[in-house]
Amino acid sequence: MSKSDFGLIGLAVMGQNLVLNVESRGFQVSVFNRTTATTDEFIAAHPDKKLVGAHTLEDFVQSLATPRKIQIMVKSSAVADTDRDAVDAVIEQLIPLLDQGDIIIDGGNSYYKATERRDAYLAEKGLRFIGAGVSGGEEGARKGPAIMPGGPTSTWEVMKPIFESIAATAEGEPCVTHIGTGGAGHYVKMIHNGIEYGDMQLICEAYNIFKHAGFTPAELGQIFTDWNNGDLESYLIQITAEIFKQNDPETGKALVDLILDTAGQKGTGKWTILNAVENTVVISTINAAVEARILSSMKDKRVAASAELQGPTASITGEKAALVKKVHDALFASKIISYAQGLDLIKTMGAEKNWGLDLGKIAAIWRGGCIIRARFLNDITDAYRSNPELSNLMLAPFFTKLLNEFQQNWREVVSLATLNGIPVPAFSASLGYYDSYRAAVLPANLLQAQRDFFGAHTYERTDKPRGQFFHTNWPDVIG
Ligand code: 6PG
Repeated sequence: MSKSDFGLIGLAVMGQNLVLNVESRGFQVSVFNRTTATTDEFIAAHPDKKLVGAHTLEDFVQSLATPRKIQIMVKSSAVADTDRDAVDAVIEQLIPLLDQGDIIIDGGNSYYKATERRDAYLAEKGLRFIGAGVSGGEEGARKGPAIMPGGPTSTWEVMKPIFESIAATAEGEPCVTHIGTGGAGHYVKMIHNGIEYGDMQLICEAYNIFKHAGFTPAELGQIFTDWNNGDLESYLIQITAEIFKQNDPETGKALVDLILDTAGQKGTGKWTILNAVENTVVISTINAAVEARILSSMKDKRVAASAELQGPTASITGEKAALVKKVHDALFASKIISYAQGLDLIKTMGAEKNWGLDLGKIAAIWRGGCIIRARFLNDITDAYRSNPELSNLMLAPFFTKLLNEFQQNWREVVSLATLNGIPVPAFSASLGYYDSYRAAVLPANLLQAQRDFFGAHTYERTDKPRGQFFHTNWPDVIG
């Protein structure tokens, strides 16, 4: 039998679908899974495909053409760069079986610091490593995901034909690009996920306002369908419309109303926040989204507090169409802020790490395949293509215009929700960022005075050149 072009380890659903995707582009693929029965079942289910099922890692490695291209799709659990997890275990087993120049690709949601460690470790052994973020869920893996590979350019060049053939396309361009060296691919996937958290929370806040205004799931299904036919068009808006239309077969009720309000999370959002703090970058929308999941998970405490802590009873009346327009504007404006913050973090970190990141290219590959794919990523791509040095997405003329247009309705929605006791942490965090960023003067003069008061930390003055520092002998309040 001829040698395979590509090998994949880990036949969970994502792995299986990626294999079928690669095979469908004309490549022969070898597969290995720790539980051999899974391998056998998978091969048996696809008798007419160019697949090779191996029962041992030795056979698997021997079945591949060199330089071998082996993608690992096992669950990563490392939360620190020093943690060892299933990805490391597979790598250790592979090392003695591989030849110089062979390529290992980690396609899971690995922590970028672990990716950097693995990259350095494998390079010492003469092996090549690509940490590739893969987005799009199970369906994306089968039909075309967005792929965010990081690693040396020369290794990317070897992988490019396979990656480009299996990726989704947007505007005729494949949704894959060489993100940068080292851990850049997994890093950018992590921020993608942070942005995904922001998008999802903003949609949930819109839903919560509508729910308190008495909209039925059927009405919500229609609103989101309409939005998906307009400037908010995106995968997450599309699936939200479908969710509202789904009835529970057992009770006939809208399924969404039967789902418990406690959100799960696997860690990429938390990593994004930690990284933002490390880089001194504000990502308040994503913060709010992660924290909203944490608060949602405290169901028992919330139920207990709901009997103790008072607030208004929501009563939202008035013309529904007007409310829909206002919430649309609040959602869109907040979404722009969330992307502005996420991209700011990518830019800052890219410069810090010297990854040579290109925000235009990153935005371009997010236009298709991935969970955050959205029509407005075309406009983000255009913004960075026309000005790669853009200091903040809000200041790209297209987005400045939109924010100026939306800001009044955005304020009204945050006020309305707040007066009705409906939590909108991501809408309001976004608006707070917008108002802070556009404020020529903030109250930090007082803050500096406080710092100088208790710690002699000094301050600059508005009437003296920047860079001169002053200290005042403040009154003694302790006595
Ligand atoms: C994707 C998704 C995918 C997954 C994340 C988020 O891009 O395909 O981001 O990677 O949904 O793991 O999961 P949590 O919501 O559980 O953190």
